[in-house]
Amino acid sequence: MSDPAFSHAIPCCPTVAAIRALVGQWRQEGQTIALVPTMGALHEGHLSLVRQAKQQAKRVVVSIFVNPTQFAPNEDFSSYPRQLQRDLDLLATVGIDAVFTPDAGVMYPAGFSTTISMVGPATVGLEDASRPVFFNGVATVVAKLLIQVAPDLAIFGEKDFQQLAVIKQLVLDLDLPVTVQGGPTMREADGLAMSSRNVYLSTAERALAPRLYRSMNGVKDGIAAGQSVPSLIRAAKTELEQVGFTIDYLVLRDASTLAEWHGRSQGRLLVAAWLGKTRLIDNIGIGYVDLDGHIKE
Ligand code: PAJ
Repeated sequence: MSDPAFSHAIPCCPTVAAIRALVGQWRQEGQTIALVPTMGALHEGHLSLVRQAKQQAKRVVVSIFVNPTQFAPNEDFSSYPRQLQRDLDLLATVGIDAVFTPDAGVMYPAGFSTTISMVGPATVGLEDASRPVFFNGVATVVAKLLIQVAPDLAIFGEKDFQQLAVIKQLVLDLDLPVTVQGGPTMREADGLAMSSRNVYLSTAERALAPRLYRSMNGVKDGIAAGQSVPSLIRAAKTELEQVGFTIDYLVLRDASTLAEWHGRSQGRLLVAAWLGKTRLIDNIGIGYVDLDGHIKE
């Protein structure tokens, strides 16, 4: 069953029964299935995950659902960009097999009573510090999507590095029979990480935004040159604050646990900062960092 309001070359399934029927058919034919969950307002970052999925699975499903439970009341749920027809046009250019487009009534029917509550990577003082409901909302909706679509493979962007870690843990904890894979962050030519929220930036803010990535690379280069991690981070924060960012966090963490970095592990530099009313997040890998704070090959 596809939604007549959005007739398109790609089958558009608004119900769980519709996507299950389609996926069930592929499964019977022995085909592998990948899922790329999104909230729509698609950009090249989302499309890169779709291409990654296509390389590994015979069938690719993209879900589009702006999940209300991961937004706090003061966040941008109502203003979050919604542009389904444009998204379908974009997906048609990459060529996928189905779009799953549940609405809130399908996802959370009256009487819905379950929330997945996570600790571990969901409570390491990064996104969770300023967005306390976020990861329980993400975990609940992603668990539902994985159960509804039942893919072999699900792909999530490294752009949301803590989210990726949370989902890997979720799948492990609940024995969900799916492989979770990360995809690299796609960037604009000036280095700004692509995001559906970049449309909120004013012209002046958009011009400043790439400094976030530049500063992180500055810290990475400084570490490689043997400078002290805390002072590099302090300097980067000051520099960003001076041009107008308000920093939520800029930290070096252990790349696999996201816990405090204690040396002798792969490091990940993660940042969240406000530019006016827009909150930007980004992160980069900095390789293996030794106890003394030096990057080792
Ligand atoms: P959304 O922000 O739409 O992102 C969908 C997927 O695209 C996520 O896995 C995200 O990490 C990835 N992504 C976003 N920007 C990217 C970029 N520049 N390069 C590569 N990948 C990028 O993340 C969500 O939706 C939601 O929380 C969701 C997982 C769908 C649950 O509601």
